[in-house]
Amino acid sequence: MPSKLLSPWMLRRLAIRNRICVSPMCQYSATDGMAAPWHLVHLGGMAAGGAGLVMAEATAVVPEGRISPGDLGLWSDAHGAALRPIAAFIADQGAVPAIQLAHAGRKAATARPWEGGAPLAPGQGGWPVKAPSTKPFAPGYPVPHAMTHEDMAAVVTAFAEAAQRALQAGFQVVELHMAHGYLLDSFLSPLANDRSDAYGGTLEGRARLPLEVARAVRLVWPEQWPLFARLSVVDWYPGGFTLDEAVTVAGWLQEAGVDLIDCSSGGMVPDAEIPFAPGYQTPFAAAIRERAGVPTGAVGMITEPVQAEHILVSGQADCVFIGRAMLRDPHWALRAAVVLGDRPPFAQPYHRAY
Ligand SMILES: Cc1cc2nc3c(=O)[nH]c(=O)nc-3n(C[C@H](O)[C@H](O)[C@H](O)COP(=O)(O)O)c2cc1C
Repeated sequence: MPSKLLSPWMLRRLAIRNRICVSPMCQYSATDGMAAPWHLVHLGGMAAGGAGLVMAEATAVVPEGRISPGDLGLWSDAHGAALRPIAAFIADQGAVPAIQLAHAGRKAATARPWEGGAPLAPGQGGWPVKAPSTKPFAPGYPVPHAMTHEDMAAVVTAFAEAAQRALQAGFQVVELHMAHGYLLDSFLSPLANDRSDAYGGTLEGRARLPLEVARAVRLVWPEQWPLFARLSVVDWYPGGFTLDEAVTVAGWLQEAGVDLIDCSSGGMVPDAEIPFAPGYQTPFAAAIRERAGVPTGAVGMITEPVQAEHILVSGQADCVFIGRAMLRDPHWALRAAVVLGDRPPFAQPYHRAY
């Protein structure tokens, strides 16, 4: 019996073999931003495991946009060359190679999670951080440099150049990271952005830089390939970014050429109270899809094939992004197909396991 989860779909002129997408997940395993064998095994395993789209982690468009010194980067052609075999392997498995482009803003320059994750001062392996305003992320985090118009123009250019390198490396989908309190999200949120110029204040002002980035990337990204944006639909904090605002921004992003909103939440402030539970962010994907009329991806504690199938069949999202469940089982898509009584997308060499 064919399932919706395993059904092929199209975005622009890109055919995707099923609706199971690997959520971008930092591996903190790069040196100077360069992809390593770990990234090939990590991403390649999930492509061989049957996912429809495999998204490489938050990849910094400039060195100072890395969350940690171990983040992937795409600020030079050499970085693109290191990613090329990975994109090729994912595509060879029949999955869509995708990459998330990012700038960490005021949450940049921290230690890897397994080294404590604390902010790293310049001199301890860190670097000065930039943000819309001088508000630090949390006590103990550095005071950011409030970005000038020149700084912002440079960020727009860096995203567009990284997208061009992603294309040359063989990726077919780019996702713009506008979530989790990182740079573009921090422009959207009144909790981080108290600018009084054209890049702050009203929603239009706060969305200006994210929209400039989206338009600049769309200009260099081929018309036939989709562009995604991940939003933190709410900050889960009083005075923060709201669902109503996200609906408006999603519409503006679509006008700017974004084809799908990947609906996440949180990350703007450390003490947000987030009601973690299975599928807790799915209502955001449903609301954006319904109210903004934009295709969406649901993400967050989607672990069971039946749960994922229900999200799609009930029209709450166009695809699901699977994160930690993919780390536990890179062949999650094969198992999902078996559970749903569908045909598992086995790689040829694995067929005898069916
Ligand atoms: C190890 C790890 C790294 C992550 N890195 C990123 C990232 O690079 N970009 C991003 O947007 N989200 C990142 N996330 C969030 C995931 O993409 C996902 O949204 C989140 O884990 C919730 O989905 P899940 O419950 O299926 O794991 C990361 C999560 C984990 C566990």
